[in-house]
Amino acid sequence: MYASIKSIGAYAPKKVLSNFDLEKIVNTSNEWIVKRTGIQERRIASDEQATSDLGVEAAKIAIQRAGIKTSDIDCVICATLSPDFMTMPSTAAVISDKLGIHGKMAFDISAACSGFVYLLSLAKAFVESKIHKNILIVGAEKTSAFVDYTDRSTCILFGDGAGACVIGQTKDKKRSIISIEAGADGKYGNLLMTPGCGSKNPCSQKTLDKRLNFMKMSGNEVFKMAVKALIKDVIDILAHNNIKPSEVDHFIPHQANFRIIEAVRAKLDFPKEKTVLTIHKYGNTSAASIPMALNDAYEKGKIKAGDLMLFDAFGGGFTWGSGLAYFDGE
Ligand code: ACO
Repeated sequence: MYASIKSIGAYAPKKVLSNFDLEKIVNTSNEWIVKRTGIQERRIASDEQATSDLGVEAAKIAIQRAGIKTSDIDCVICATLSPDFMTMPSTAAVISDKLGIHGKMAFDISAACSGFVYLLSLAKAFVESKIHKNILIVGAEKTSAFVDYTDRSTCILFGDGAGACVIGQTKDKKRSIISIEAGADGKYGNLLMTPGCGSKNPCSQKTLDKRLNFMKMSGNEVFKMAVKALIKDVIDILAHNNIKPSEVDHFIPHQANFRIIEAVRAKLDFPKEKTVLTIHKYGNTSAASIPMALNDAYEKGKIKAGDLMLFDAFGGGFTWGSGLAYFDGE
C-alpha cells in the first residue's frame, strides 16, 4: 500500500495588491519588482479572513475533488507561518472545526516556505504506516498579517492564499508519492525570521515599537543559499530515484522569486512549458505556494492522472525539501 495525492484545491483572496499599489506605499517601482522578482501582483485577505478561512476554502475543493466526505478524513495537518493564533488552538484544529470534522487528529507544522514538502512527507508516513487512511494537508497563509508595509525589501514579495490536498491510499506505485527528501539548518535562522511576539521576545509595547512582530529577511543572502539548495535538492532526489529530468512531466517549485526558479530550471534543463509559474500573480505565498501552483496547472488541464511531478522548496529555518509524486486524482 502506497500513499498518493488524490486531489488538489486552492483559494486566492479576491483583493489584488499590484506593484503600482505598492509604489504608493513604499519607495519602489513596478519595474524594479518585476525585474528582480517576476512578481506583478499578489492577493491580500480581507480583515475578516484569517489563515484558517483561506485553508477551509481550499480544503472544501480538495475534499470534493477527492470524491470523499469530510467524515472520511482521519487527520488534518496545516503548514503555516501565519497561524490564526500565536500559541493555540492550532490553525488545523480551527480548519477542522469549520469543516465539521470533530474528534480527529489535527495539528500545525512550522517549516515556512518548505511547509508543503514537509506535509507530504508526514502524510506519506502516516498513510504507509497505516495510522491514517485519508489525510487532509493544507498550506495556508495570511502573510499580510506579518509583513511590514514600511519595509520595501520584504513587503513586495509576499501574498496570501491556500492550497490543500487529500492524501490517500493506492496499490499502484505509478500513482504514488515516490519520495520526499527534506532538511533544515537552524544556524541560518536569523537570516529570515519574525523576531518578536514569541517566547524569546514576548509581545510588548517595546516589541511592537521596534516592529519585531513582522518578518525580517536578509534577502540577498537568502537568495544565494536558496538557489544552491534548490538545485542540490533536485539533483539529489532525481539521482536517488534513478529518474532523469526528461522523465518529469511537471516541475512545481516554491514560488519565491522568478530568478531563483529560472536558475534551477536552466541548470536542470527543464523545458519552460513543464515549469509551473504563478509568481507573477500570487507572489510568495509561503507554505501555500506549491499547492496553489499545482492547482493552477490542474485547473488549466495540464495535470492528469499518472503525471510525474517534481516539487522543490526552500524557506525560513532554513528549511528545504523536494518531492517526487505521480498525480492520483481525476
Ligand atoms: N524597490 C526598490 N529597491 C529596492 C527594493 C524595492 N522593493 N528592495 C530593495 N531594494 C534596493 C536595496 O535597498 C538595494 O539598494 P542599495 O544597493 O542602494 O543598497 C538594492 O535594491 C539591491 O538589494 P538586494 O537585496 O541586493 O536585491 P536583490 O537583487 O537580492 O533582490 C530580493 C531582493 C528580491 C528580496 C531577493 O534577494 C530575493 O528574492 N531573496 C530571496 C527570497 C526567498 O527566496 N525567500 C525564501 C523563502 S521565503 C520564506 O521562507 C518565508
